[in-house]
Amino acid sequence: MAKRFSKSSFFSSDIGIDLGTGNTLVYVRGRGIVINEPSVVTVNEKTGQVVAVGAGAKAMIGKTPPHVRAVRPLSHGVISDFEVTQELLTYLIHKAQAGSTKLFGPRVVVGVPTGVTNVESRAVRDAALTAGAREVFIVEEPMAGAIGAKLPVNEAIGTMVLDIGAGTTDIAVLALGGTVSSKSSQVAGDRFNDNIIDYVRNEFQLAIGERTAENTKIAIGAVLPLAEPMEQAIRGRDLATGLPREVMLTDSHVRDALASSLDSLMESMKDVIEHTPPELLSDVLERGVTVFGGGAMLRGLPELLSQMLGVPVHVADEPLTAVVRGTGIITEDPSIWGDIFMHEQAILPKG
Ligand SMILES: Nc1ncnc2c1ncn2[C@@H]1O[C@H](COP(=O)(O)OP(=O)(O)OP(=O)(O)O)[C@@H](O)[C@H]1O
Ligand SMILES: [Mg+2]
Repeated sequence: MAKRFSKSSFFSSDIGIDLGTGNTLVYVRGRGIVINEPSVVTVNEKTGQVVAVGAGAKAMIGKTPPHVRAVRPLSHGVISDFEVTQELLTYLIHKAQAGSTKLFGPRVVVGVPTGVTNVESRAVRDAALTAGAREVFIVEEPMAGAIGAKLPVNEAIGTMVLDIGAGTTDIAVLALGGTVSSKSSQVAGDRFNDNIIDYVRNEFQLAIGERTAENTKIAIGAVLPLAEPMEQAIRGRDLATGLPREVMLTDSHVRDALASSLDSLMESMKDVIEHTPPELLSDVLERGVTVFGGGAMLRGLPELLSQMLGVPVHVADEPLTAVVRGTGIITEDPSIWGDIFMHEQAILPKG
């Protein structure tokens, strides 16, 4: 029988974690979102010491001497470096609990991409347990985000959501506390950055870094033509001379760069729709699709999706925090969310 998440928290605090490829957010029950940091850890390979975690570590990407490594321990939403993920979670759980005098480690609700394997979700659970959690409850990110967006996921209504993160775009139709059809695509924010890097290399013979591509995407990215075109100067290394050079990139260049990725995202959405029972599909047609995750803020994306699919598309309030707010809502009143957890939880014996 699925283990229930009981409400007593005198001895321990309950926290929700959105362990994202790009960003990790922590929600503490009764306090709200207390941490929002890039999922980056910098490690000194000589000493094995953690040099920095989060924003400090992200600022070091591409700038470290050979013996210092800036690591993104998650790739495409799942753990690619277990030890560093453990360091990240240990740091964040301790930071979230700083000043609290709880007797036991926290109970943690953590989101994972839809469709992860048992091995992948077990790695997340074990990393959280080793990082100090007393119990770990695993929920799929589209479900958590839909709860964070206050959508009626427990009712007999088809709720379609799209979580466009850094490593994955998760597409799901939810109803009666479960996932009816879903797909996880690797076409997401990081892929868009790569598209821009490739485009600038091919069109301008200029090599640019990942952060330059990401900043440009956020500053002038638009998937539909803008009333007021935007442009940005970007600097990189000329492929022929090896010297620094600057070019002016426009929103229409970015649009061209992202075009094929957007087509593939569209195909994935159509795939999920094709596998959705007609009754639920009519709800989707009526109520539309809700988008969250950082990619939801790409200019024109909701409008383009709506045009292509012929259904209304809404961006959730505060799209970057929908998932962690969902895990938070679950910790606030766990009794009504019992069935949404992925699988049996292990309890780590104390000491
Ligand atoms: N204004 C914006 N316009 C376009 N993209 C944005 C914007 N703000 C953030 N992003 C992108 O959103 C992504 C981060 O979103 P989010 O924090 O939801 O991802 P994540 O949860 O860390 O990743 P995942 O869910 O795939 O594990 C990054 O790729 C970032 O570049
Ligand atoms: Mg995410």
